[in-house]
Amino acid sequence: FIPDAVLRVTAANYSQSCYPAKHTVLVNGTSPGPELRLTEGETYWIRVYNDMLDANLTMHWHGLSLAVSPFADGTPLVSQWPIPPAHFFDYEINVPHGMAGTYFYHSHVGFQAVSATGPLIVDDLDIPYEYDEDKIIFLQDMFTKDDAVIEKGLVADPLVWSGQTAMILVNGKGGGISHVTAGDATCNSTLSMVSVEPGKTYRLRFIGATALTFALLAFEGHDSLTVIEADGSYTQPYNTSILQIGGGQRYSVLLTTKAAPEKSSYFMQVESRDRPSVARSFAVLQYGLKPATKPMNPLTAPLTLPNITRGFLDDLAPLHPSRDFPTSAEVTRRITLTVHQKVSGQTVWLQNAYNWTDSFPQTPYLVALYENTTNTTTNPGLPYPSLERALANNGIDPVTRTFPARLGEVLEIVIQNTGADKGGLDIHPFHAHGAHFWDLGSGNGTFNGTANDASWAARGHQPPLRDTSMLYRYATSTGNGTAMGWRAWRLRVTQVGVWMVHCHILQHMIMGMQTVWVFGDEEELLGRVGWPEVEGYLAFGGDVYGKETH
Ligand code: C2O
Ligand code: CU
Repeated sequence: FIPDAVLRVTAANYSQSCYPAKHTVLVNGTSPGPELRLTEGETYWIRVYNDMLDANLTMHWHGLSLAVSPFADGTPLVSQWPIPPAHFFDYEINVPHGMAGTYFYHSHVGFQAVSATGPLIVDDLDIPYEYDEDKIIFLQDMFTKDDAVIEKGLVADPLVWSGQTAMILVNGKGGGISHVTAGDATCNSTLSMVSVEPGKTYRLRFIGATALTFALLAFEGHDSLTVIEADGSYTQPYNTSILQIGGGQRYSVLLTTKAAPEKSSYFMQVESRDRPSVARSFAVLQYGLKPATKPMNPLTAPLTLPNITRGFLDDLAPLHPSRDFPTSAEVTRRITLTVHQKVSGQTVWLQNAYNWTDSFPQTPYLVALYENTTNTTTNPGLPYPSLERALANNGIDPVTRTFPARLGEVLEIVIQNTGADKGGLDIHPFHAHGAHFWDLGSGNGTFNGTANDASWAARGHQPPLRDTSMLYRYATSTGNGTAMGWRAWRLRVTQVGVWMVHCHILQHMIMGMQTVWVFGDEEELLGRVGWPEVEGYLAFGGDVYGKETH
């Protein structure tokens, strides 16, 4: 057995953007890790080694819908046991036709994804847009504290916050307003360069691998960007000069370079929004491959970026409307996830009064369901999720703390922002594992089905298919449970498995902003086509559950 790709995860002292080296989780020795390039219509096996000494690991293939191999989704204690130190796990990645696009992979354990992450591109057999070349623009955050310190603080009572993003990294490098004046000239060579040639069209693949930052970005001197892909689905061309991208989101953008550039380097400016302070960083769009002198960080910001505009996300339309898009008459259930930050006692994020940190299973849900070991002494408190109990409790089964659904159902999932006890309001990039959802839209106040139905129908086009969309912070109100904006999705339940839906801000995940969805009833789950492959896969690894070596 020879895997198609091997990723080795280590922890090492590593310096980013001229900050002092600190304990950082790396993939194949770097952050971001290597680019994985797959082709639609193929199946791949990716071996992931945990070479860390003292931390468990899983690897998630963000945005890929692993209908054939839900065991490979990489969610710890949801789809698999985490990989213990000195073990590996073989992930079966099936990429059906139609899944070409821009993705990334990241650890799904704790705060590791801040650095243990890298691009994953699925190439098309037939590209609907024309361009000369593609380039990856991978966005990450850098914090000055160690991951372990951040994690401990986020689950502490009282909460110890991670601090704001110290630096937004673009392809692993970041730089702010010139450090020269502060006497630090050494950091002026750290900006990432995106090399281009005059008069060509580039497909820039933006990957929002940020932990916290909701980013706005734009290019000096190049204000015509055409969005053509969002989260692995082609969109109709959408022109903008400013891109907004939340953690977990991806966009492909066509940019045509100048035929006769006035200078050789132009800044790309990226800034955070909706945080108490603005993090700002730069990269360089570089004409020509080898500049004589490296571009310096700017002395002042070349661009003034606005506040966020919400139209961007809700204006995108799919390139080809889908025949599968369910009408409102097909919706079988509407489930409202009311998200709220509770600060009495330990500060946690709640969804409908439930919190992932205090409902952590003792056996991974999918493993328990597959082995049919539910309701035994080795797996107490995890009987098969009950749809009846869930229906009586706004979609969540209070016993298993899961959201069960039957295949064939059409769910409308409404995420309702109610801010925090102590006031204030956050923006949340909500991400769904498994099948992508139709991103119906968002609005202020409390979701109102009928009125909102009319407003998105009035857009005159289908909503795009996404896997991550923004729950904006609409109102500037004082919090305390007031309705402050919503986002609505429509989803066909087609993929048997156990899938997470969660905020993609790593801090919020650690503070409990995660939910687990079980699709398929017991018979469908245990009898599904594809388990035999999984069995071989279990037998091969031996250490799949993190218990045995081989
Ligand atoms: Cu990239 Cu569960 O997420
Ligand atoms: Cu959040």
